[in-house]
Amino acid sequence: MITRRKATEEPRNAGPIEEVDESEVKITRKYSTTARPSAVCFSTTRKVAYAAFYMFWFIFGLLVIRKTQNAIAAVRYVKRHSDTVGLHLIEKSPDFNELMDTLDRNLTKPPAFLLLNQYALNMTYNFLCNTAQLDGVHERLVFVTLDSVARDELRAKWPQIRQLYWPTPSLYKPFSFAEGPYQTIYLLRANLAVALLRRGKSFWMMQQDTFWRKSLFDQHFEDDMSFDALFDQIGVDEHSQRAEWVNGANFFIRASNKTLEFFEGVADKLGHWYAPDMGLMIHQCHTWGTVRCAYMPHKLAHSWEWMYTSQQDAPLIMQLDCETDGGSKLMQLGRFGFHFTEKDGSCNATKVHMAAERMERGNIEVSRALPSWGRLQFKAYWWIVDYMLWTPVIGPLLKPYLPMVGYILMITL
Ligand SMILES: *[C@@H]1O[C@H](CO)[C@@H](O)[C@H](O)[C@H]1NC(C)=O
Ligand SMILES: *[C@@H]1O[C@H](CO)[C@@H](O)[C@H](O)[C@H]1NC(C)=O
Ligand SMILES: *[C@@H]1O[C@H](CO)[C@@H](O)[C@H](O)[C@H]1NC(C)=O
Ligand SMILES: *[C@@H]1O[C@H](CO)[C@@H](O)[C@H](O)[C@H]1NC(C)=O
Repeated sequence: MITRRKATEEPRNAGPIEEVDESEVKITRKYSTTARPSAVCFSTTRKVAYAAFYMFWFIFGLLVIRKTQNAIAAVRYVKRHSDTVGLHLIEKSPDFNELMDTLDRNLTKPPAFLLLNQYALNMTYNFLCNTAQLDGVHERLVFVTLDSVARDELRAKWPQIRQLYWPTPSLYKPFSFAEGPYQTIYLLRANLAVALLRRGKSFWMMQQDTFWRKSLFDQHFEDDMSFDALFDQIGVDEHSQRAEWVNGANFFIRASNKTLEFFEGVADKLGHWYAPDMGLMIHQCHTWGTVRCAYMPHKLAHSWEWMYTSQQDAPLIMQLDCETDGGSKLMQLGRFGFHFTEKDGSCNATKVHMAAERMERGNIEVSRALPSWGRLQFKAYWWIVDYMLWTPVIGPLLKPYLPMVGYILMITL
């Protein structure tokens, strides 16, 4: 952004130097004779410029201070609560071991884990409603319920769905992006991954804020031995600057000593650093060279950004994380036609079919209303990141490292 502006402005200023001088002379001449108002005008614009300059750096300084405080608070929060989501606790837990036994006995395919507390219940019902019609999906899902409300209500509404009850008081609240609880849940996810891999269990990690047009499990990714880990990726298509960056919402990990080491690395760093888990996975995929990371093509897995393209090649799954806070997310999804449950929580299969059809025909109504402040900021950051990556030489060098400092660069969030 900055470099571009410089590039267009500099030639204009640098070229006709004499002209500029001339006009300045004119101004001073006017000033010395009669024209009072223009002198006033001249000094006020100058004052305004100074004020704007100081204001910019003042606000920037405040944002830096706030960001630093947030970062320290988040890391402290994770450290204070890391015991409750610790690896040893998981491995010792009777619930976890019992789950492993039933999976061994009763599931030949790798399970898919999703996490939730009571604030994500509505989103979870929506996802379960969406996937209810797809063969063999519900059997493979395991919901990690973090509080008793989530456990009991999910059990009441969807009794046949597998659960792993993991009461975690540090996660009994709605999450906000990049804060302590948000980081803690990712630490839990990473430790769970380590525990599973130590048991030799391959697995999927998934998120409820994803619409399934068709079953991802029908693609038989688990049988493709050309990779150790299969991630969803961000960006709009394969030529995107951000392609091959792990999105981290939906991914498959095949059990091996290498992938075990990979997630031990993620978990260890999440416990000490203020970095997004997707940033850590991107870094390790691109620099370690031990784990063969593969990426689902955008035609299979995409984000909400697909709706803002020409809506060709409807993906099998689409992650709909168009809002940063969970509360308004379902409302937002409703506007796009991806809210399938009725007011009483019952599932309306017609709505699911209608959404899938709209996607296939490529005519999802995208609201022309202004995007929310949160989404606007994300769009701005993506735009800046694309420019950084597009820079010759430096861009490719930065690519594996940039996401690790993502939280710090997102200074207004
Ligand atoms: C295995 O799971 C299926 C479907 O969830 C269930 O019907 C069956 O009773 C289970 N069998 C065992 C041995 O748990
Ligand atoms: C979930 O949906 C129900 C009914 O639509 C609503 O009453 C409730 O407040 C919602 N819960 C949350 C946490 O958003
Ligand atoms: C994985 O590591 C363990 C312990 O370090 C070792 O005993 C085992 O043989 C390794 N497995 C493979 C497939 O390399
Ligand atoms: C399901 O949704 C469709 C379309 O919005 C609606 O016409 C129908 O009445 C709903 N069915 C139930 C049982 O609510």
